[in-house]
Amino acid sequence: MVRWVMGHSEPGSIAPGEALINAPGVAWRVPGAHPMQIILGITGGVAAYKSADLARLLANQGHRVRCILTEAGARFITPLTLSSLTGEPCYGANPDQGEWRANPSIEHIELARWADLVAVVPATANILGKAANGLASDLLSTVLLATRAPVLWAPAMNTGMWEHPAVQANLARLRSFGHAVVDPGEGVLACGEEGSGKLADVASIAEAIQVHGTPKLRSLNGRRILITSGPTREDLDPVRTLTNRSTGAMGIELARAFRDVGARVQLVLGGDLLAPWGVDTVRVRSAQEMLAACESRWGGADGLVGAAAVADQRPESSACEKVKKGDGPETLVLVRTPDILATLSAARRADQWILGFAAESENHLAHAAAKLQKKHLDAVLVNDVQGGRAFGAQANTLTPVTAQGPQPPMGPLPKDQLARAVVQWWGHRLEATERGR
Ligand SMILES: Cc1cc2nc3c(=O)[nH]c(=O)nc-3n(C[C@H](O)[C@H](O)[C@H](O)COP(=O)(O)O)c2cc1C
Repeated sequence: MVRWVMGHSEPGSIAPGEALINAPGVAWRVPGAHPMQIILGITGGVAAYKSADLARLLANQGHRVRCILTEAGARFITPLTLSSLTGEPCYGANPDQGEWRANPSIEHIELARWADLVAVVPATANILGKAANGLASDLLSTVLLATRAPVLWAPAMNTGMWEHPAVQANLARLRSFGHAVVDPGEGVLACGEEGSGKLADVASIAEAIQVHGTPKLRSLNGRRILITSGPTREDLDPVRTLTNRSTGAMGIELARAFRDVGARVQLVLGGDLLAPWGVDTVRVRSAQEMLAACESRWGGADGLVGAAAVADQRPESSACEKVKKGDGPETLVLVRTPDILATLSAARRADQWILGFAAESENHLAHAAAKLQKKHLDAVLVNDVQGGRAFGAQANTLTPVTAQGPQPPMGPLPKDQLARAVVQWWGHRLEATERGR
């Protein structure tokens, strides 16, 4: 279910993680980080200590988290740690442990219904085997069998166990049920061996939970979206470079937001920020590199989101050695870089769509409307960057401009929420267009 309400705001009716977009006479309620009710199952491996960090991270993101420890899990981490971090009860393996005591006959069914998502982190070979075969011998395995919520596994174990055909067959079976698996990484394991089986990092597991638990948008699910993000850099010499104030944060949040609603995102990224989990990312430096990366991917894409701040000019030449300072005035000769949006727009098929971004310091709606027309885009989302706003800032406002004129502004919102607002707005517009065909 998507919370996307258009109408007048009702003070006090905003759920955690939601935000209101206010325009004159209009308030849109946009989804936050899609707050969920999450059951976090913790089983008996050394990596159980990391589940405390995960529980805290998820709670900080606005989710409600209830932990269920298996008997072996409770030997590695205490219920008190988990309930303190989440502010929610922590359940034990059996009716005589933890909160299950209150109403043992139906607690497992209530928990199974309560959950929007069940994640088992870390998942032992034992619990994978039990769940793959429908065994229900304790609270966690019973909830896993009873729930209709999405299920996600983050296994961790010794390399020999991980590579055993029985474990791999169990995982294949769980995948065939529609469960998601965050594969372990490689490294030195608690047993001293080096190899695969190390629990994936907590931040990646949290991202996977977000992806698996977010409702998909019909118009974007499975669609291939090309996103450009970040600054480009045009080198003058090995030391100096011509760039701009963009960080790439907005494009990265857009990549996450499109990914969460089911899109297959390819991100062409300039700048130094970390690539988001689960997004196929290619790093580029100059405008020319960005164009080449986009041109080779555009034919296979359904849509393009041009959020990069591409340098309009580059030095006429780039020196191999550092240029020494001279006496008197110095001149830098600049030439135009390729116009990526215009180039891709000229090569577009009728079934492809393009969202452009514009950063303007004055007259922004008029400039956006001109860009829309000149480059044949479907919408331009315009930032007002006067006084350094937008670049590097935590919160931002975007006004979409379409062939129908300016639409109600979105924001000011933190960039992650703003990105989700853009995706909901665009996804619903695409849906309406498809219905109208
Ligand atoms: C010190 C220690 C560490 C263990 N680490 C793991 C592990 O990382 N992965 C795993 O699958 N089993 C591990 N085991 C074995 C499980 O604890 C054992 O299979 C247990 O029955 C799992 O129960 P559960 O799945 O109900 O939590 C470990 C056991 C011990 C004593």
